[in-house]
Amino acid sequence: MPVAMRIAQVLFSQGFGTRRDCQGLVLRGDVAVAGQVLDDPDAEVDTEGLVFQVQGRAWPYHAKALVMLHKPAGYECSAKPRHHPSVLSLLPAPLRTRGLQPVGRLDEDTTGLLLFTDDGSLIHRLTSPKHHVPKVYEATAKHPLTAEQAAALLQGVVLEDDPRPAVALGAEIVAERHLRLTLAEGRYHQVKRMLAAVGNRCEALHRSQFGRLALPADLPVGSWVWVSQQDWP
Ligand code: URA
Repeated sequence: MPVAMRIAQVLFSQGFGTRRDCQGLVLRGDVAVAGQVLDDPDAEVDTEGLVFQVQGRAWPYHAKALVMLHKPAGYECSAKPRHHPSVLSLLPAPLRTRGLQPVGRLDEDTTGLLLFTDDGSLIHRLTSPKHHVPKVYEATAKHPLTAEQAAALLQGVVLEDDPRPAVALGAEIVAERHLRLTLAEGRYHQVKRMLAAVGNRCEALHRSQFGRLALPADLPVGSWVWVSQQDWP
């Protein structure tokens, strides 16, 4: 259904600063739609399928945003990081301004698929333990993996300080030291603690899938992409 919105309001909703900043961008001739500069902040545009340009860079309009980042090691998933830069610093300013938040957390040294959204109900659905969204991790083990270790992970292991057993949905030994672990929960350091609980040690960790979403093989480390609405988990 077409939704008409003033171009200055579009910019404001998409994170381009205060209402005054957004008016200023339009008045300065920095905003174009379909190759035409719009210099009236009150000009109405149809937001359905809208792609607008700000200072030459194209932005698709999204009422709610979901993006996927290939997280590098050395970034913290907190807005107030303590020892390393925040993953939010890898997103462009408009996405930060409109309030995107990481969906769950990865450790500072974990790499791979990290989602961000400004849709609070989506964050809840994807992170609440009730919804059992499976996540796939590629773990590099210090010691050769054994069939007994994989079986124990599938049966459930007790982690330090937590009486509830942690159970893997999948534990595939891909190579001597490469374990593909599928978990429906996200407890603190869960993969590392589960590997320790079976007498091994996690030396490196990468998340390759979150629900139905897989990290694209061609997404460079540190880069992000929009997740189109039909692919939303
Ligand atoms: N489990 C961990 O131990 N670390 C992560 O970053 C994610 C899952």
